[in-house]
Amino acid sequence: MAEALDWGQVRDQVIEWVQEAGDILKKAVNGHLNVESKSSPDDLVTNMDKQTEQYFIDKVRSHFPGHRIVSEEGFGDEVQTTEGILWFIDPIDGTMNFVHQKRHFAISIGIYEEGVGKVAVIYDVIAGDIYHCVKGQGAFINKEKMRPLEDGELKTSVVAINGTWLSKNRRINPEIVRSIAEHTRGTRSYGSAAIELAYIANGILDGYLSMRLAPWDIGAGLILIDEVGGRVSQVDGSPLELLKQNSILIGKKGVHQEMLQYIQSGIAEGKYVEKK
Ligand code: IPD
Ligand code: CA
Ligand code: CA
Ligand code: CA
Repeated sequence: MAEALDWGQVRDQVIEWVQEAGDILKKAVNGHLNVESKSSPDDLVTNMDKQTEQYFIDKVRSHFPGHRIVSEEGFGDEVQTTEGILWFIDPIDGTMNFVHQKRHFAISIGIYEEGVGKVAVIYDVIAGDIYHCVKGQGAFINKEKMRPLEDGELKTSVVAINGTWLSKNRRINPEIVRSIAEHTRGTRSYGSAAIELAYIANGILDGYLSMRLAPWDIGAGLILIDEVGGRVSQVDGSPLELLKQNSILIGKKGVHQEMLQYIQSGIAEGKYVEKK
């Protein structure tokens, strides 16, 4: 049997790598970027997404041979099962922010063993904040421990919702999204799912809804949120599937519950919701 890993050491190693890669991104963000679009004009990729992914893949392959990698830009492995140790790597989460805003982008790395989240590191590069945890040892922002999430209510909550989901024919009837938004204290959209999930874990956002995220978007964030006791499901309340695209509903206990009720009543009234 393979020797058990010291997850604290792995976390420290990943933090070193994200800092090194982050320094390169900080320099690159204001220079010339090669920007291409993938599936649609709003689906961007840059030379730095590819270079950063390659950087992490080289590191993982040389330090942890035998581990498999699920990553966005195509340099990882074809992974069909959650067996063994899996790394979920998003080299730049928030590429559109990287290109247009020059801030609010993150490196997101989550490591799972037999489908169970063990280590998460999300580096908000320009803010200089590293959100991290080892399962069972508490979650941190830099050196500061995050508190377990308290219960909450929608009417005093700030919820992250991307305006995309308010436009017609985008996977959810916009009236459902509106019914949630108008019962919150306020909504926000930061353009990086990894940062938004880290904000939930840190208690500065109370809820989050997205109709489609990929495994590398959420691999790390889910581990952080689990560590502080947040609620997570697909938008209809069903469990997530780690290796697939999922819709996502996250929040403090009461906030998650209330958002779910608005979605479920919308579904009962015949309004469309595509959960995957
Ligand atoms: C995107 C960001 C964005 C979310 C998109 C993701 P990318 O990731 O997380 O916030 O709304 O669905 O695809 O492509 O910038 O890594
Ligand atoms: Ca992308
Ligand atoms: Ca992403
Ligand atoms: Ca990305």
